[in-house]
Amino acid sequence: MTQATNTVRFVLDGRIVDAEGERRTTTVLDYLREQLHRTGTKEGCADGDCGACVVLVGELNGDGTAVNYVPVNSCLQLLPTLDGKSVKTVESLKRPDGSLHPVQDAMVACHGSQCGFCTPGIVMSLTGLVQTVPEPDRSAIQEALSGNLCRCTGYRPIIDAALKACEAPATLLKIDDAADLPLLREIRRPSEPTYTLDGDIVVQPVVRTRKGNVFVSPATVAEVADYLLKHPQSTLLAGSTEFGLAVNKQFRRPEYIVYLGNVAELRQVQDKGTFWRIGAQVSLTAVEALVADAWPDFAELLRRFGSPPVRSVATLAGNIANGSPIGDTMPCLMALGASLRLRRGDKTRSVMLESFYTGQKKNVLQAGEFIEAIDLPRPKTGEVFRAHKISKRFEQDISATCCALRYQLKEGKFTEVRLAFNGLAPSPCRAPKIEAVISGRAPEAVTAAEVDQAIAASFTARDGLRATWAYRSLVARNLVLRFVEESVESAPEVAS
Ligand SMILES: Cc1cc2nc3c(=O)[nH]c(=O)nc-3n(C[C@H](O)[C@H](O)[C@H](O)COP(=O)(O)OP(=O)(O)OC[C@H]3O[C@@H](n4cnc5c(N)ncnc54)[C@H](O)[C@@H]3O)c2cc1C
Ligand code: FES
Ligand code: FES
Repeated sequence: MTQATNTVRFVLDGRIVDAEGERRTTTVLDYLREQLHRTGTKEGCADGDCGACVVLVGELNGDGTAVNYVPVNSCLQLLPTLDGKSVKTVESLKRPDGSLHPVQDAMVACHGSQCGFCTPGIVMSLTGLVQTVPEPDRSAIQEALSGNLCRCTGYRPIIDAALKACEAPATLLKIDDAADLPLLREIRRPSEPTYTLDGDIVVQPVVRTRKGNVFVSPATVAEVADYLLKHPQSTLLAGSTEFGLAVNKQFRRPEYIVYLGNVAELRQVQDKGTFWRIGAQVSLTAVEALVADAWPDFAELLRRFGSPPVRSVATLAGNIANGSPIGDTMPCLMALGASLRLRRGDKTRSVMLESFYTGQKKNVLQAGEFIEAIDLPRPKTGEVFRAHKISKRFEQDISATCCALRYQLKEGKFTEVRLAFNGLAPSPCRAPKIEAVISGRAPEAVTAAEVDQAIAASFTARDGLRATWAYRSLVARNLVLRFVEESVESAPEVAS
């Protein structure tokens, strides 16, 4: 049963916090600092880039016997999303006897901190890592820290500290949350919808303001669909890594916010035989694990998407719906032939991702319709997938251009070619004219001049803030040629 409540209830270090009277768009960071005086958590940028605000958010596992933690940028997360969960800040790590967590001890011993502004975020990212990987290697540590900026210490002592911390026994590295478990069970959010006596679904708000604006957190897809029919002007909230920015930087305050994070059906990946149905609320971290073996280039691209605290909550659906011309997952999904399962009320339809956009940040979604899932064809024998993102920095940066190509080589010639880009057009898109240059040809027959011509015929030259057209078109051509050239060695032949 969905409770009627205007109080956000979450667990903090062995007690339930009832957060009352807060705005729906108060961030977790602001609440921690201003109301709970947990000032260890810092605000550096308020846009998910610096990592000074990283905290761990915990949720009960399926059978309610343990807590799963993910690192998040608390500056981007809205307080009502914490309802039914727990949060750990740097202050949570100190034990009752006053001793520190091994990560904190090691940061002191290895001189991993100077001004200290970044330190709590770094400590929380590393503590989050050792909850799931007790003996991380150097590269896992570097990746865990890729969303934490330190401007004065330098990363070597910090990485040394991480390695040293991992020498501690696993029992000391684990967060002691025994006291949180019963409380999390007590405040667990409902998993069933509420119905009126007439059998209509009622979605109760987590927060309702005096003006009547609401934040709802449905438990089922049926509730989401019903609510959106009644309130088609609602803003959907998934990982909040786009919407949190809009709240902080553009002061967006929509009347209706519908949080999808508690809809169990949307958090599942279903194996449908020929394709995976990836629910709209599946995190990019989970997608990365799903595709790692089949398409390593896709997994690497996801490793370069934002940072671990971004990916632990951000979703494919949010990336797709936001529709940035430089959104990173769309070229990969288009090249792999993904389609979207869209839902309005109890009706669903399937739309190929390449047909979803109608212009810059415009799409075919009707009022009250939403993305329920992404249907991703499973890997096929003989299929080769390549993708690469060009950005100024390797990690935590947005694309100048990203190119993805899927093909098979049959009797030495390209077949089943699907090529897609971001950064070249008002929305990510396929490139049929360039596909035609490659299709049916042997790799060595494809020339740079032909690809250049096809690029010029496919796109309108336009300079952007992040790169000129001259740069983008050259990079696009070089990526295509690189994939074509490398295909000679890498593509497994398919018997015709
Ligand atoms: C620090 C930082 C780094 C980033 N790096 C990258 C990057 O490298 N590459 C990149 O492409 N992007 C990047 N982003 C952008 C962002 O993380 C992605 O677009 C992400 O996938 C958005 O997903 P979300 O779940 O957080 O969406 P949200 O912020 O929750 O929502 C985004 C939009 O999608 C809508 N929406 C969400 N779910 C649905 C649904 N099921 N149906 C219909 N509409 C829906 C929301 O209403 C909203 O308009 C970055 C952002 C930050 C803050
Ligand atoms: S304050 Fe910089 S990432 Fe949140
Ligand atoms: S110690 Fe000063 S920013 Fe990292």
